[in-house]
Formats: sequence, C-alpha cells, structure tokens
Amino acid sequence: AAAEKGGFDSFMDKEIHDQPHAVADTLLGRTDAAGNLVLDDLRIDESVLRAVNKIIVIACGTAAYSGHVAKYAIEHWCRIPVEVELAHEFRYRDPIVDERTLVVAVTQSGETMDTLMAVRHAREQGAKVVSIVNTHGSTIPRESDAVLYTHAGPEIAVASTKAFLAQITAAYLLGLYLAQLRGNKFPDEIASLLDDLRDMPRKIQTVIERGEYVRATARSMSDCDKVLFLGRHVGFPVALEGALKLKELAYIHAEGFAAGELKHGPIALIDEGQPVFVVVPSPRGRDSLHSKVVSNIQEIRARGAHTLVIAEDGDDEVRKYADEVFWIPKAPTLLQPLLAVVPLQIFAMALATAKGLDVDQPRNLAKSVTVE
Ligand code: G6P
Repeated sequence: AAAEKGGFDSFMDKEIHDQPHAVADTLLGRTDAAGNLVLDDLRIDESVLRAVNKIIVIACGTAAYSGHVAKYAIEHWCRIPVEVELAHEFRYRDPIVDERTLVVAVTQSGETMDTLMAVRHAREQGAKVVSIVNTHGSTIPRESDAVLYTHAGPEIAVASTKAFLAQITAAYLLGLYLAQLRGNKFPDEIASLLDDLRDMPRKIQTVIERGEYVRATARSMSDCDKVLFLGRHVGFPVALEGALKLKELAYIHAEGFAAGELKHGPIALIDEGQPVFVVVPSPRGRDSLHSKVVSNIQEIRARGAHTLVIAEDGDDEVRKYADEVFWIPKAPTLLQPLLAVVPLQIFAMALATAKGLDVDQPRNLAKSVTVE
C-alpha cells in the first residue's frame, strides 16, 4: 500500500498532489481538427442542444458543489438559466423538465444510486442528460445521452479532492461547448478562456507547494470544535466544500455560508476566537465583490472572529483584516475555485491527521453510495 501511495502518507495527500494532472488531463484532447470543442459519446442532436432553454445540474456531495460552481460559469457564458439540485431532492419533487431541458449529472463513481434515479426520472420526462463522470464503464454514462469524462484517474480516498477539480474543469468545458454551439461567444473568446484554463494546473501546483503553512495552521487548531466558512459568488460553493471536507475528515462541526447572508443570521454565531475561513474574490474582478467580502471580514473581526483568509497574491487591502492569509495565484474570477479550494482540502486533511484520524477512510462514509 505504501508504494500505491507514491511516498505520501495517505491516498488523500497523493490525490491532492495529483490535482494539477487531473485538471490538465481533463483538458487534453477536447478539440477536433478544426479546433472546436467536442463531447464524448455524443448521442444528442446538436439542434436539440441549441434549443435547450434550461439546465439542471444534479449530483450529491462534493459533486453537487462542482455543479454550484458550474452554474455561475454556464449562466455567464451561455445565458441559459441553470439550476443545481441534489439528485435525491430532484427525483422526489415533481420537477419541471421537458425536451428542452438539459440535465447535467455529475458523479465521480458513476454509480451513485440517488444520481442514477434522478437521471432515469429526467429522461422519462423527455430531458436529455449529459453526465460528467470519472469512472469509465460505470452505469450513469451508459444511461446518459452524452458523457464528458473527467480524467482524474482512480480516486481512492473517500473524501473527494482531485475528482472535484476535474468536475469543475469539465463543467467549464461543457459551458464553453454550449457557448460555441449556440454562438454566444466568438471563437477567439473561447480560445482565450481555454488558454486561461490551461494555465490553471501550474497555478494549482503553486498552491500545493505553499501547503506547509496551511498544515502548520491546522496543527495549531486541532482542538477547535466549530469552524465557519464564508464566500460569495463562486467562493460560496468553495466555502460549502471547505466545510464538508472538515466534517468528513475531522468530524468537526463546520458550516459554509454565502457571505452576504451573514447579517441575516450566521453572524450571531461569532464570538471571541471563532475561526472563520473567508474566500476572497480577486480585487480585479467586477461588481465590487471584493470590497463586499472585505467588509464582511471587518464585521466578523469586530465581533472577535479569528479570520483565516484565502486571497489572491498582491491583495494588500485584505491583509490588514486577516489573522492568517493563504495566498493563491491570480486567476480570472470564474476559475478561482480551482485554486481556492486547495488550502481548504489541505487544512481538513492536516487537522484530521493531527487528531490521529484516518483521512482515507473516515468513519460512517463510503466512497460510492449505491443505495437510495
Ligand atoms: C459519497 C462520497 C462523497 C461523494 C458523493 C457523490 O457520499 O463519500 O465523497 O461526493 O458520494 O459521489 P459521486 O461518485 O456520485 O461523485
């Protein structure tokens, strides 16, 4: 087993380090001779994809958070409304789905029963299903109209890491594919977004190389019993995923919130010393997202929070309000989740390790849940 872990202490640690490859491999070979993006096993007429008027992403667990990230990108690029729903909730609520609905099922294993049941239900209503799947030969791609495989390689640790980054990457490709097909973007705009994506593996590698500071911080916090995570826009699903990782691995009560929601409730949870992670958007982004998040940090700090901030290199403004900063390289706002989630994965793994827990096999969890 030591050899399989490639010299790392755990499969999870190895898989975190595999992430630049998982993203790079998922981007490889996605264009035809003419330079157009292509999907695998496409059994949907392109005219049907052009007519799509609604997208619903269905998934469970970490895969569902990749869907949340996808929503921001696909709506922005394609101007199609995107809903994201947990597969088991979708299946049992009489969803409004028809021939013009595209359902996107995201799953590492391709075997999650809740997701499979939702796929079948969607197709019975006439929807087309594209699945984003990591495991070849699994059930969900066989039952889908098209597949976009993530090439993350086998993921052994129960808590998902590299599959998540590959899912986000694949969802971006799907968004760009739809934008290309429907003429929402000029070819040179798509080419430039693809260039930005191809830059990400190198930047992810940089975040991993800065991991020791995250580990040391986690070790110093091994007795904490409640951690909060805040983010806005694509930073919101990153906050949710950071909280999920900490629950799964370290058995700590952790919750993610949309930072704008703070004043509507969660701020009541803040007292002296409460650790709060905050995902800070790029200061170069539009819509004053950055200044909104900086104000949120000031609000919680004034109430005693210990602020652990994930921020872009060179963000001098945020440094003033942060107790700890985990720096990530500059990237376009929509692509930032591929970087921002990495310190949160490392934090959860290191804290669980400091508590003496098995990070590859957390209690009560299974890698693939094949019952409803
Ligand atoms: C299980 C795993 C999670 C995973 C979820 C969805 O609960 O423990 O890590 O995110 O299933 O799995 P899938 O294979 O469909 O992505």
